[in-house]
Amino acid sequence: MTTPHRGAFASRIGVILAAAGSAVGLGNIWRFPTEAGSNGGGAFILLYIACIILFGLPIMLSEFIIGRQATTNSATAYKRLAPGTAWHLVGKLTVLTPFLILCYYNVVAGWTLDYTVQALGNSFSAMAESGNPNAFADYFSGFISNPYLPVVYLSLFMLFTHTIVVRGVNAGIERFSKILMPALFIILIVLLICAMQMPGAGKAIDFIFNPDFDKITTGVVLAAMGQAFYSLSVGMGAMTTYASYFKPDTHLSKSALSIGGIDLFVSVMAGLVIFPAVFSMPNLSPDAGASLIFIALPNVFHSAFQGMPLLGYFFSVAFYALLVFATVTSTISLHEAVTAYLHEAFGLTRRRAATIVSLSAIGIGSLCALSLGPLKTYTVAGLPLFDLFDYVTAKWLLPIGGLLSSVFAGWYLSRHVVKSQMTNGGTMRFRLFGIFLFFLRFLCPIGIVLVFLNELGVFKLPQLL
Ligand code: PHE
Repeated sequence: MTTPHRGAFASRIGVILAAAGSAVGLGNIWRFPTEAGSNGGGAFILLYIACIILFGLPIMLSEFIIGRQATTNSATAYKRLAPGTAWHLVGKLTVLTPFLILCYYNVVAGWTLDYTVQALGNSFSAMAESGNPNAFADYFSGFISNPYLPVVYLSLFMLFTHTIVVRGVNAGIERFSKILMPALFIILIVLLICAMQMPGAGKAIDFIFNPDFDKITTGVVLAAMGQAFYSLSVGMGAMTTYASYFKPDTHLSKSALSIGGIDLFVSVMAGLVIFPAVFSMPNLSPDAGASLIFIALPNVFHSAFQGMPLLGYFFSVAFYALLVFATVTSTISLHEAVTAYLHEAFGLTRRRAATIVSLSAIGIGSLCALSLGPLKTYTVAGLPLFDLFDYVTAKWLLPIGGLLSSVFAGWYLSRHVVKSQMTNGGTMRFRLFGIFLFFLRFLCPIGIVLVFLNELGVFKLPQLL
């Protein structure tokens, strides 16, 4: 099969920033606090960090190896590296999962767009001054149950993503990430300093850093593992596809470590910003679920900059705008994983491939958005469509995808190929090769299966800990 002209990342820092841009997004700033809050705080966070190190990073490397070795989208990569085998089905799964995530992730992305608009219009300070302690919560629930606004915003967000994906890897993705990631870091640090002045800061630090191991129940382990995969963007075709644009001298292990480090840093920072706000609000508890950051965050700006309304205005607009950008670098990677497949495997132009992805994700995404409002009564397995998509993808499809990619790199690919990828064709050393192979072959697959068995009630993992 011939590959249409493919892009490549131009600079080393561009590679890391684009992949880190994929990793850092709503998963860190919205989903991480939501999951940590619902699963007991500190103990969950420890499990999450353990899952990043034990499963997330080795699996990210396995995806880098598969992507760069095959130099094509993730579905075709499995087909090309394992011709005539059933592995092509795994390849297809690595395209299906990002598509499903894109559909519902875009709903939350739309919310961030609306919050940027509200910040620009200074609505949050009006809400804070209204005297109604539930003003932020009322606004959020009113917005998400509106019959058309969330759909309009998710469509706008998709248009934004679409435009960048159509322009291709170099022009669109890399340049974008280079400026925005550092800006996001700076603003998170400023917000952290503000949040630490809030009355709930002490309780928040206790909640985050003082793990209560009794809170580790069955579901918590699966939630932590799912969150690790989700926030690193692994277990599906996003990193594999990006790795196909890596250059031969891209340092895989160093890149994975930097991406993992940046990703963890942003999650912990987000937790340290959001939980002080949560514990400072009278009617909000950490297990409030998906609404958590949308109710707690506006309050951070209000209470931190009370005497300085202009500064508060500036920071709230800057934060929401950056959240939109952090989100778009993730939606780009989800979109790109599917678009690259349609473009390369079916010979469609990039534009046509991207249009098919955008329109179908808007259609399904709209159903997910409406499932929180007008279509609330229609549930599947007791869950609204939005929650169902989140549950199935994050907790099951990503770990399954990760398990399969580690088995593929560990057992199917030849040791020579794996070693050559990790050492850039023998031009440098990778001292941990033996341990790495052990992780791919045994630790990751067995560990992930144990977490699944634990979830299915076959036995209880916490008793082993
Ligand atoms: N990692 C992204 C985030 O944290 C979400 C994502 C998941 C992107 C899976 C790509 C693949 O927001």
